[in-house]
Amino acid sequence: SRTCLVTGAASGIGEATAALLRKQGHTVIGADLTEGDIRADLSTAEGRAELVARARELTGGRLDAVVSCAGVAHFDPLTIRVNHFGAVATLDGLRPLLAAGTDPRAVVVGSIDSVHPTDPAIVDAALAGDETAAVAASRAAVDRGEGHLVYSSSKAAISRWVRRAAPTDAWAGAGVPLNAVAPGVVVTPLTRPMLDDPEMRGLVEQSVPMPLHGHARPEQLAPLIAWLASPENALVTGQVVFADGGADALLRGDRT
Ligand code: NAI
Repeated sequence: SRTCLVTGAASGIGEATAALLRKQGHTVIGADLTEGDIRADLSTAEGRAELVARARELTGGRLDAVVSCAGVAHFDPLTIRVNHFGAVATLDGLRPLLAAGTDPRAVVVGSIDSVHPTDPAIVDAALAGDETAAVAASRAAVDRGEGHLVYSSSKAAISRWVRRAAPTDAWAGAGVPLNAVAPGVVVTPLTRPMLDDPEMRGLVEQSVPMPLHGHARPEQLAPLIAWLASPENALVTGQVVFADGGADALLRGDRT
């Protein structure tokens, strides 16, 4: 049995993943804003430090898997804080605990939105690790009416961060596969308001076409995330695995 930490464990994809890992017999430490074993706001430096400190206390300093699901989709700089900087802080902050674990693995939830248009100013600042600049660029995007770019940029940045970090000494060199899973549209509290609004739903269906099975349920993402986080995954690292019912194949087509 493994010890796994899941952020965003109170809802949606994180909740489904935590439930599956528990069903598989693993010990799951759930982290979220106001519920679970660790309550921490991953948009803030204090919350990120709290996550790592509490994880150390609860595990004695050893973790076998980390799954970073916490995320928001607001047209607001908060989105880059949580989705990119919160995820990086989770993965980097818990890396020493993984290094002390058995067959350690790390997974972060990206998005099909990473292949949509992004704002290079946000993505570049995020990849440079400059949160102040990334927040300022996000604010500028919101102010000129392009708040949707904050979300796609946050997911493009975390996907590219995974590809950069995975093959380095810190991750591959320490024997830790690090991957992203990129869902299409999953019916959760994050997307429900959009899907309930007929006009918004039409836009979502246009921008994320899912010819296989339509919109997903969180339970359909959990097995892939759990496998990437399991010892069976020996070779997959640095990948952004699209689990999107064909959306990426349609949107990017031959641009492999
Ligand atoms: P959700 O809203 O059901 O769950 C997200 C969880 O993250 C919530 O429990 C929330 O409290 C937590 N969270 C938010 N901000 C936080 C913060 N500052 N600190 C700590 N925890 C925080 O959403 P869902 O759909 O399960 O999303 C999970 C991940 O999947 C997110 O990263 C999202 O961007 C991503 N995703 C979701 C898709 C969808 O269609 N639902 C599609 C592609 C990606």
